[in-house]
Amino acid sequence: MPEQEVATGEDSEIDEPKEDDSDSVEPEEEDTDTETEEECLAQNLVISLSEHPELLEIGGSAIISFPDQFVHLLVVCIAAEHWIAVWKICSHGNCDVEWDEAVAAVRCPCHDSLFAIDGSVIEGPAETGLKEFMVCRQADQLFVRPA
Ligand code: FES
Repeated sequence: MPEQEVATGEDSEIDEPKEDDSDSVEPEEEDTDTETEEECLAQNLVISLSEHPELLEIGGSAIISFPDQFVHLLVVCIAAEHWIAVWKICSHGNCDVEWDEAVAAVRCPCHDSLFAIDGSVIEGPAETGLKEFMVCRQADQLFVRPA
């Protein structure tokens, strides 16, 4: 079936691939999600929530470093069971960014750059975003990996 989708003309496939796509897309998404969570849990960047209880509260944040891996993060609980993590050092200079609960974004206190929860720049002077990390939870631990 996949060969037909690629090799035949566009008009003749409009009806058939729709059924095939709906059948094939769901398992792929599930597989991807499963792989992604497995990959996340396999990472060695682990945060103990008992050591960082502030991350159990919505809006709670912490600067967490993994010196052996040269990783330095701002981790934020943005909703129930939903955390984000971005590189903690502002791309404009050498300041540690902070969570700004009032605007639900990451702010640099030095020159007021503002970053979205995925690390992208909302407002300069920073021109480059912050590296985003994926966070997943298992029991009392958060597992972190580059997104
Ligand atoms: S160092 Fe962050 S905005 Fe300048």
